[in-house]
Amino acid sequence: MKLLVTGASGQLGREVAALLGDEHHQVVAVDRAALDFSFPDRVAQGIAQECADWVINCAAYTGVDRAEQERDAAFLVNRDGALAVAEGVKSYGGRLLQISTDFIFDGGQSTPYTEEDEASPLSAYGRSKWEGEKAVLQCMPDAVILRTAWVYGVHGNNFVKTMLRLAAEREELGVVDDQIGTPSWTFDIARAVQALIAADASGIYHFTNEGVASWFDFASEILNTASELGCPVRTKRVRPIPTSDYPTPAVRPAYSVLSKCKIRGLLDYNIPHWRTSLNAMLRQLLLGDGSG
Ligand SMILES: NC(=O)c1ccc[n+]([C@@H]2O[C@H](COP(=O)([O-])OP(=O)(O)OC[C@H]3O[C@@H](n4cnc5c(N)ncnc54)[C@H](OP(=O)(O)O)[C@@H]3O)[C@@H](O)[C@H]2O)c1
Repeated sequence: MKLLVTGASGQLGREVAALLGDEHHQVVAVDRAALDFSFPDRVAQGIAQECADWVINCAAYTGVDRAEQERDAAFLVNRDGALAVAEGVKSYGGRLLQISTDFIFDGGQSTPYTEEDEASPLSAYGRSKWEGEKAVLQCMPDAVILRTAWVYGVHGNNFVKTMLRLAAEREELGVVDDQIGTPSWTFDIARAVQALIAADASGIYHFTNEGVASWFDFASEILNTASELGCPVRTKRVRPIPTSDYPTPAVRPAYSVLSKCKIRGLLDYNIPHWRTSLNAMLRQLLLGDGSG
């Protein structure tokens, strides 16, 4: 099959392109220089020219806090750009898998969000992604929307890398303990993408790693594991703090655990727990261990 991956310089796009390429598909990996979503008119045309069997749209405006000031830029990429991709794919009869986010939910629930639960985003970023989902499905009702959360990987910038940097600099760290979600490794998300394509799926799916955590739990595990793997950790104490002690421009959901019941039905393996995958990722990052 021919597969086209957008956002190929991002943390998820790089992982998806690498995994699917390993499976002997023909993968066309497209970055911003090749296809700039700020110009949606050109995006539809560029996508149509490639005539890929599947397009996996990993490109997004991901600056959650910046989006509060740059709302138009976020909507241009996450809504108009996503729609342009869908229009391009539809023009030649291909399939589309659009990546979305837990930030479309308001976090008011206390049980995992299912694919049927109502979206009610709290931030400009969340709204832009939700509008993108709706635009894609309106254009291509058989598209796949894959919502994931708390993404980290070996490539690009993410919470894991920020914590490792701070751990080398600071004796004490305060980390938010009242936002609950599930850290999700790009490698595992890429495997879910692979499974959805293999199953010729359509519709909305949720995927994260197993288990739940606060950012404080996640940070503590990162530092413990990094230390076990011989990485220099100066931090002696990670302190749990409330969100009110770490104000950010964008409001984030207090609870954004996603239910994986639906996607489990098409996976022929158990989804790894977030602690297992974090360990594998840190081994890859710090020791160059590719066995994860
Ligand atoms: N990160 C998370 O915690 C998280 C959580 C839930 C869902 N998601 C979703 O997962 C997907 C992948 O995110 P990620 O974490 O891999 O983000 P990322 O590392 O920031 O990658 C985003 C990609 O989009 C590209 N991009 C940004 N603006 C663009 C534009 N105007 N035209 C073309 N490409 C553009 C970036 O290119 P440049 O490198 O040139 O900027 C980059 O390749 C997104 O749909 C995101 O909404 C992420």
